Amino acid sequence: MQLSLTINNKPTVLDVEPDMPLLWLIRDEAQLKGTKFGCGKAQCGACSLYVDGDLIRSCSYPSQMANGKKITTIEGLSEDETHLHPVQQAWLEVQVPQCGYCQSGFMMAAAKLLEGNPNPTVDDIKNGISNICRCGTHPRIIKAILLAAKLKNDGKQG
Ligand code: FES
Ligand code: FES
Repeated sequence: MQLSLTINNKPTVLDVEPDMPLLWLIRDEAQLKGTKFGCGKAQCGACSLYVDGDLIRSCSYPSQMANGKKITTIEGLSEDETHLHPVQQAWLEVQVPQCGYCQSGFMMAAAKLLEGNPNPTVDDIKNGISNICRCGTHPRIIKAILLAAKLKNDGKQG
């Protein structure tokens, strides 16, 4: 099936199996490797990206459902290559990652959380993000999201 998508603002036409998970399309066809495969069952969040602005778990999202839609991956989270998104800036400052595998999914979820809630509490973060980090970086993730909110609200970033 031929799909027409916009991936990180780039119009893209790909010929793929309609029920192939969108994650495969992004990683193997579009060659964007920042989005990761973890559980494959919509449970861990490593494969998180946006379809028309909605946060989805792409391991469990058929590619055909993305036809005609706008996909944003971690590579397209910031406005352009010269600016970091406030979440990325905060992640750097807090030095969040350990192995790093889960981190792009967390950053996509964090940026989406801040769109809807510019001043989240620690409980809002815990309740709003269900991604899993096997390295146990959750305390630094919470710290980074609180910092990202501050950076965003101060207008220093994004
Ligand atoms: S790989 Fe998609 S949620 Fe785990
Ligand atoms: S940093 Fe290793 S799984 Fe999260």
